[in-house]
Amino acid sequence: MKRIAVLTSGGDAPGMNAAIRAVVRTGIDYGWEVFGVRHGYAGLIAGDFIPMGRRSVGGIIQQGGTILGSARSEEFRTEEGRSRALRELNRAGIEALAVIGGNGSQSGAYALDQMGFPVVGIASTIDNDLYGSDITIGVDTALNIALEALDRLKVTASSHQRAFLVETMGRNSGYLALMSAIAGGAEAVVIPEVETDPEALANEIRIAYERGKAHAIIVVAEGANYEAEALAQYFKEHVQRLGFDLRVTTLGHVQRGGMPGAFDRLLATRLGARATYELSQGHHGVLVGHCRGEITTTPHAEVVSNRQMLDTELLALAKVLAK
Ligand code: F6P
Repeated sequence: MKRIAVLTSGGDAPGMNAAIRAVVRTGIDYGWEVFGVRHGYAGLIAGDFIPMGRRSVGGIIQQGGTILGSARSEEFRTEEGRSRALRELNRAGIEALAVIGGNGSQSGAYALDQMGFPVVGIASTIDNDLYGSDITIGVDTALNIALEALDRLKVTASSHQRAFLVETMGRNSGYLALMSAIAGGAEAVVIPEVETDPEALANEIRIAYERGKAHAIIVVAEGANYEAEALAQYFKEHVQRLGFDLRVTTLGHVQRGGMPGAFDRLLATRLGARATYELSQGHHGVLVGHCRGEITTTPHAEVVSNRQMLDTELLALAKVLAK
């Protein structure tokens, strides 16, 4: 192999740059030329490739986001879009590709690999919902950002004896919400994996008030059947019942924009290095992830047809700990 490319796709995640750096520097160490693809699959279709040298990835390990840029490409979901991408890859003489991203990105990687172009995936999404990796690049940093926000909200909530509905990201996964709720000592948590009963939630808040708590923090995952604003709307008419006054905070993209912590830098570095190793061995059509403490590979066919399940038993633990 002489020439490979690397791209980042979907929502950016802290640590993506560390993964790019690892792919570039280990790839060069194998004696290959490494190209970066700008703006994910959109750049692949446009043939937007830039040569990457060791120095071009200097000083990026500590940066959040992605120096290559990312995108959600509708065109790449079509067969025509993928064929155009393939033409551009062949035109540039690129022989293999590393795709850093989450579910949508790995589906694209699988589709391209199925078309005969060797692709290796690297597990990266703050949602932690990717089959084939217990933990993905960006999760730990996003979790710490959510946690810092919860700690701060608790301070002001206590000063005013308020309840806060705090919305976390995660698309259809409650991972960030549940883990930040446990680590942040929240009074309640609402996740997509479990149907929300707003009445029961109102009772939980009331009980926290009657226990003499100075605040109630309710972490709400964005994909839950009642999102934070919808719950606030519902509670408007019942606010007397809650005991606490109520406010809403949406953390949103703030969770994605942090500097990667040590865990994400190391995880991304190890996954990136393993991805080039797999390519050096002629392996492709797999996702490089982290399972049960080890760096692993899982066939893309399995990755795209399964869902990473959340351990909802932790929800019961969160309830006990909130008392
Ligand atoms: O997949 C990562 C994620 O941040 C999700 O948690 C969220 O639902 C989505 O991306 C937001 O997408 P966008 O950045 O395109 O608004």
